[in-house]
Amino acid sequence: MSHDIFGTRIIAAPMAGGTSTPDFVTAVHEAGGLGFLAAGYKTVAAMQADISSARAAGARFGMNVFVPDPAQQVPSGAVLAQLEEYRARLRPDARRYGVEVPPLRLDDDDHWHGKIDALRENPVELVSFAFGLPGTDVVRALQRAGSTVLATVTTVAEALEAAGQGVDALVVQHASAGGHSAAFQPYADRHDTDPHDAFRPGTTAELVTRVRSAVGLPLVAAGAVMDRAGLDAVLAAGAEAAQVGTAFLRTDESGARQLHKDALGSPVSRKPG
Ligand SMILES: Cc1cc2nc3c(=O)[nH]c(=O)nc-3n(C[C@H](O)[C@H](O)[C@H](O)COP(=O)(O)O)c2cc1C
Repeated sequence: MSHDIFGTRIIAAPMAGGTSTPDFVTAVHEAGGLGFLAAGYKTVAAMQADISSARAAGARFGMNVFVPDPAQQVPSGAVLAQLEEYRARLRPDARRYGVEVPPLRLDDDDHWHGKIDALRENPVELVSFAFGLPGTDVVRALQRAGSTVLATVTTVAEALEAAGQGVDALVVQHASAGGHSAAFQPYADRHDTDPHDAFRPGTTAELVTRVRSAVGLPLVAAGAVMDRAGLDAVLAAGAEAAQVGTAFLRTDESGARQLHKDALGSPVSRKPG
C-alpha cells in the first residue's frame, strides 16, 4: 500500500465526547486536512447520522471506534472491590453536587458489533481504532468493504501486534497526547517487553523513530504536535502525518464545551514557565 494514503500531513484527531462533529471535520477538510469523526460513547444511529452529515457537506473523513476489552466486562473479584471502593470515594462529591453515583455497568461495549456492522454496510474511507485491536476478522471485513484500517498503538510491542492483524497503518500515540492513552497491553507486559514504552520520558518523535525501525506500515504521530516545528520533528522521524487533537480543541468549529475551551486557554491550566 502507498504510504500517501492520507493526502495530507495534518489529521484532526478523533475526539469523542462532543468535539469531533461533522462541522469540525468539514472545516478541517476545507482547510486541506483530514478529520476523523469519533464514534466513542455514541449510539450506532448517532454514528451513522454523523457520517451522513459529513458526506452531505462533501468532506473527506475517517471514523474512529473504541475497541471494548472483554476482560473489563467480567472483572475479577479484586477489581470489582476496587471499583466499588472508587464509587464510595466519589459519593461525597456526588452529594455536594446533588447527584447519584450510578451503579456499576459492566455490559457496556459501546455498541461494538452494531458499529462494525454499520461500517461494513456503509463503509467510510478510513476507520481507526483505539483502546485495543479489532481482530483480524474485523480488519479484513472492513478492508473488503473498501476501508483503510488504522490501529492506535503506544509501544513497539503494540505496534508489532497490530501489524500482525493486518492493519494498513498505525497511529503512534505518545504519553504526551491529550485525552486518555489508547494503551491496550497490560502495563506489566509493556514494562517487561518494551523498555522504551510510551510512558517513559521522551517525545512523540522518539517513539515514532522506535516504531519506524520495527514496523514498515505508514505511521501517524499523535501527541503534543502543536506547531510547524512539532510536525517537522515527527515527519523527520518517519511519520506520514500528525494527528493533532488539543491544538484544534479551541477552534470555533470544535464541538468541545465552552468550559473546556476556556479552561485550556486559562493561565491556571498552563504549566508554570
Ligand atoms: C478531548 C479529547 C478526546 C479524545 N478522544 C479520542 C477518541 O475518541 N478516539 C481516539 O482514538 N483518540 C482520542 N483522543 C486522542 C487523540 O486521538 C490524539 O491521540 C491526541 O489528541 C493527540 O495529542 P494532542 O492532543 O497533544 O494533539 C482524544 C483526545 C482529546 C484531547
